[in-house]
Amino acid sequence: MATIIDHLETDHRNFAGLLKILDRELDSIAAIEEPDYPLMALVLDYLLTYPDQVHHPKEDLIYQMLLRKLPEIRDSLDDLEHEHMVLANLTRDFANTLRDVVAGEAVMREDLLNAGRAFVETYKNHMLSENVGVFKLARQHLPAIDMDTLMGDFETQSDALRANHAGGRFERLLETIKSASS
Ligand SMILES: [Fe+2]
Repeated sequence: MATIIDHLETDHRNFAGLLKILDRELDSIAAIEEPDYPLMALVLDYLLTYPDQVHHPKEDLIYQMLLRKLPEIRDSLDDLEHEHMVLANLTRDFANTLRDVVAGEAVMREDLLNAGRAFVETYKNHMLSENVGVFKLARQHLPAIDMDTLMGDFETQSDALRANHAGGRFERLLETIKSASS
């Protein structure tokens, strides 16, 4: 049976696929080509909602459970929790800059690229820290049964998020990533 860590790792694979799309589109902007702005906007729309509403709260709960077992890793866990706030701000900055570009506001190409690159790099580094650090520790130190009890509440939230985006735009986006990486 899949544990909450399996779900978090699947999320990370999906996020990595989305960051790859953004990287590719940022390369187009750097090469003074026309990027796929609607696709970028859809990716950011997803990354503005799902991580903050479902993924990061799940991780924050895992961190709290882990802290009770391993108090010595408090500083690393505090850093990761802080990075969740940093990521939320970087996502908003990039999404706002992109929205201005699409709305025809005067935005320097450099500013859009800087906001995008900072966002993508910080996201990648953050996920790598979690994959090789806390997720491994959680598998070693937290009983699967404890982690499974966390899943129920989040399933309800995930369903609500899906329902709020009727038309399946997010579902299709994630399907696109899966088929591109298989
Ligand atoms: Fe994460």
